[in-house]
Amino acid sequence: GKDGYQHFMEKELHEHPLVIGQTLQRMIDPATRQVVLPELPCNLAEVPRAVMTACGSAFYAAMVGRFWLESVARLPVDIDIASELRYRDPPLTKGSLGLLISQSGETADTLAALRTLRQNSAHILSVLNVEHSTMARESDAVLGTAAGPEISVASTKAFTAQLTVLACLTIAVARSRGMLDAAGEEELVTALLDLPSRAADALAQADAIRSMARIIADASNVLYLGRGSMFPVAMEGALKLKEISYIHAEAYAAGEMKHGPISLIDNTVPIVASAPFTPLFDKTLSNLQEAKARGGRLLVFTDTKGAERVSAIAEQMVVLPHVHDFTAPVVQTIPVQMLAYEVAVLRGTDVDQPRNLAKSVTVE
Ligand code: M6R
Repeated sequence: GKDGYQHFMEKELHEHPLVIGQTLQRMIDPATRQVVLPELPCNLAEVPRAVMTACGSAFYAAMVGRFWLESVARLPVDIDIASELRYRDPPLTKGSLGLLISQSGETADTLAALRTLRQNSAHILSVLNVEHSTMARESDAVLGTAAGPEISVASTKAFTAQLTVLACLTIAVARSRGMLDAAGEEELVTALLDLPSRAADALAQADAIRSMARIIADASNVLYLGRGSMFPVAMEGALKLKEISYIHAEAYAAGEMKHGPISLIDNTVPIVASAPFTPLFDKTLSNLQEAKARGGRLLVFTDTKGAERVSAIAEQMVVLPHVHDFTAPVVQTIPVQMLAYEVAVLRGTDVDQPRNLAKSVTVE
């Protein structure tokens, strides 16, 4: 049941802290505070590159994963949505790691992409929530997301669990490639172990998020912005808003805004920015100033450090505790999902069963 919540989505949003904690428990040895993965199909030190693929929200998790694997583990990563990858026939580097991400393990395009990668003799590692799924059977190894059953069509906790697994995988890959010493690993693991509490802090921002939702609920178009690891967070926010509130939303890498969408900006198109204080904060801030100068209404998800700088131009802010750059995308995902939920409630849509959508897309 819904445990007293109005919708499954609301219940599942509140499971973020628990689910992230459960997923970490599977992958971090509490005694050594080191990431310990199950047996993998290949030697991580020898993999020349990874090919990541998925659909929908799982694809945005893959984008965050690419950001981490490249920047922390220095592993070259190719990434594509599964429906494109399966027909692209890309030339694969021998011994590549195929990294598939799926909540259900049954998504037709992701499964087809898995088979394409297998035919090109990649090692197949899947990040799956349903561990007895078709994709699980066809993979060399599975990393499980301990998210439990997800009923709401709009994915929430499965997404942050996917990020948690990809963060742990990144640490393991970085260590085996000699990119992370013991102190470096300890620093990142400490940041990960802090996540359940920080996720709870995000949930505690419900009032501020509801007040943003009132502005969005009256809009017909919304622009989501983010850079670096926050770009996929912006995409996740925009997809969730489209799915359940039926408001058109578009996510742009903040630096790309002046190459086109800036012409859309006026006071009828709210701008939702994901802008915690990471090394890219100043770059995002300057894009937000440009938007503000053109009459844009800025609704900003930030952290305590970012808030000091962005408060002057933001019409509304949701301020989360400042966390390590590495874990910022996990924490910042939660309020953008909550925003979509609150807007859908205001608009009175069928939150858990949005029109035209299925939980698991098993046909092409
Ligand atoms: O089961 P999967 O993770 O493979 O599903 C992929 C997408 O269909 C899914 O993430 C979809 O985009 C969600 N409705 C997003 O909320």
